[in-house]
Amino acid sequence: MKNVLPHGAHTGPAGHLVVGGCDTVELAERFGTPLIVLDRATFEANARAFASVLGPSHIFYAGKALCCVAVCELVDGLGLGLDVCSGGELATALAAGFPPERILFHGNNKSVEELERARDAGVGRVVVDSFDEIAAISRLAMSCKLLVRITPGVEAHTHEAVQTGQYDSKFGFVTIGGIALRAIDAARAISGCDLVGVHAHIGSQIFEPSAFELAAERLAELLATAREELGFSASELNIGGGFGVAETSAEVAPSPQASAEAVLAAVQAELAARGVPVPAVFLEPGRSIAGRAGVTVYKVGTVKRIPGVRTYLSVDGGMADNPRLALYGTRYDAFLANRMNAPSGELVTVAGKHCESGDLLVVDARMPGDVAPGDLLCIPATGAYTYSMASNYNRLPRPPVIIVHDGEATEVIVRESHADVLRLDRHLDGTPLRDRAAGIVSRRL
Ligand SMILES: Cc1ncc(COP(=O)(O)O)c(C=O)c1O
Repeated sequence: MKNVLPHGAHTGPAGHLVVGGCDTVELAERFGTPLIVLDRATFEANARAFASVLGPSHIFYAGKALCCVAVCELVDGLGLGLDVCSGGELATALAAGFPPERILFHGNNKSVEELERARDAGVGRVVVDSFDEIAAISRLAMSCKLLVRITPGVEAHTHEAVQTGQYDSKFGFVTIGGIALRAIDAARAISGCDLVGVHAHIGSQIFEPSAFELAAERLAELLATAREELGFSASELNIGGGFGVAETSAEVAPSPQASAEAVLAAVQAELAARGVPVPAVFLEPGRSIAGRAGVTVYKVGTVKRIPGVRTYLSVDGGMADNPRLALYGTRYDAFLANRMNAPSGELVTVAGKHCESGDLLVVDARMPGDVAPGDLLCIPATGAYTYSMASNYNRLPRPPVIIVHDGEATEVIVRESHADVLRLDRHLDGTPLRDRAAGIVSRRL
């Protein structure tokens, strides 16, 4: 279980899970459930491990994994760059006072307004993704560094929905038919901007290094051709993120440091083999920084035993705070945070409280035979792509995010209330909610 829990997580004297020096049962009492707990030390250690290989300014934390003002502040404090992929993530970074020159802006369909915002804020790098965007950037008189996003034709072994390097992709410029070369040529012609290099991100939750090695090979081939045919020399090469994280205790993932070293070695070897000078190498890890730092704590509400079929434990959250099993079939471990020493026996399925049969969080978790309503169920390795993908499905308020560190707990995203969920609603005639509705929303359910 240790490989999926935050660093230093342990069972306290009362048999409770302790994360970041905080008893999670006390956290649940104080902040309620469901609850996302993020261990700052684990987040920082992962980020520093990547930075130890390439230097902090060469690591862009991928905000899509988990983005909020406090996390942006944490990333800034570490000296890392920040990858944002929407106007919302950009606004969050700017609200955190994140230095704009260390922001890199992604997206296959950035709007003109988003590009204008990036220009006006002084965002340092934009990764261009289409010929339409190249035209838009020229019209907007931007002045930033540019990278061209390359689709290198690499099918990483991961869930189809998070594969991004194959030619059949909405992202980037393919390396076939001279398309990537044309994009490089067009992007470097944008006046006011400086085309510094190329970028590729082949997918997420990738465990085999061979996928990154193949990407390095394809990018090296492209850079060699760009040098020969266009006289273009890249000063930056960004290999994206996608490093796999163990989400069950049966999985083994390479450490962040080993991942960064392997990518760097592959890039150096492939470029050297073609006589191409090695540009500065950048990475954009998200999950491998935030994933293991987070655990989610739920309260068990019902236990339904269907003889000869299955036992369902239903908890007070579900697919709206963690849609990953529903989207990608993600497998997690689960255990009781309030009874860590209880012997586990029965195989159960952990379900949420949403009106969907597919609203499952964990399939085949082993639980103590006497698991009961009121027990606190913990799902580890949920720091990435959970809160950031959360919705208000069934009009459920989203849970809070608590950062724990050295025994201190700080609520960095507060729990939504029904009033928050109803904030943008209007009556049928378009008028703001009247007193009756306001009275209902102010009551805590
Ligand atoms: C362009 C880009 N960079 C980086 C990432 C981060 O990936 P991961 O969180 O798997 O490291 C993503 C994830 O989708 C991405 O699209």
